[in-house]
Amino acid sequence: MGKSLFITGTGTDVGKTYVTALIVKKLRDSGKKAGYYKAAISGAERDGQGELLPGDALYVNETARIGEQTSRLVSYVYPEAVSPHLAAKINSLPIDFQKVARDFQSARERYDYLTMEGSGGIVCPLRWDDQERMGLDDLVHKLGLSVLVVAHAGLGTINSTVLTIEHLRLREIPVKGILLNHFHPGDLMEEDNRRMVTEMTGVPVLAVIQENAAELEMDAEVLASLYE
Ligand SMILES: Nc1ncnc2c1ncn2[C@@H]1O[C@H](COP(=O)(O)OP(=O)(O)OP(=O)(O)O)[C@@H](O)[C@H]1O
Ligand SMILES: [Mg+2]
Repeated sequence: MGKSLFITGTGTDVGKTYVTALIVKKLRDSGKKAGYYKAAISGAERDGQGELLPGDALYVNETARIGEQTSRLVSYVYPEAVSPHLAAKINSLPIDFQKVARDFQSARERYDYLTMEGSGGIVCPLRWDDQERMGLDDLVHKLGLSVLVVAHAGLGTINSTVLTIEHLRLREIPVKGILLNHFHPGDLMEEDNRRMVTEMTGVPVLAVIQENAAELEMDAEVLASLYE
């Protein structure tokens, strides 16, 4: 059974998939058997045959050269660009958390280092109906995962990063570090943001990622040591 780590973000579009691809690539380039899993993708486009394309999983599979059947990297794919709980309602296809747990465990068996990406931010409802109310935070807690928080390096990140980490602590989810995306070295505010998020939370910024970065500037062994 391999180790795993969860990637959340301060919101949707902050770059979780982009950064996750660099993480998995770094581990694989250092010779480790590293894989990817995401429970639910929404806003999926369709191919020429009308089949839904699991964008995030396709991107990581290709960028990190996992070489896996993409359908095994994700459990639910919805076309609407809305929260998974709403997409599930629209499609009458609610997330079955036993299936998610099974798919996650099966991915853990196939890889030594499994990186699981969240949908949206950490407060993201996955299922909200008469039978079950489950958020992403509940799922991460249930799976017993530790997390890395991907945040935008720019204006507003102190607020969103500190709030995200406070919520993770409230839900007793261990936070291993922060990754600041869209970082511009030397930028006065971004350099201050980098210091302030750590001062205000006690959580280290493990790496910064510049625009169009092709590599994660972090030691592969240090990265691997974060997996549990
Ligand atoms: N460092 C970067 N350099 C260049 N482009 C980036 C970078 N980070 C993110 N992007 C681009 O920004 C967009 C959003 O990033 P991404 O898809 O990784 O966000 P996300 O947090 O995974 O979103 P979602 O919540 O939909 O899963 C993508 O088009 C991605 O290629
Ligand atoms: Mg994504």
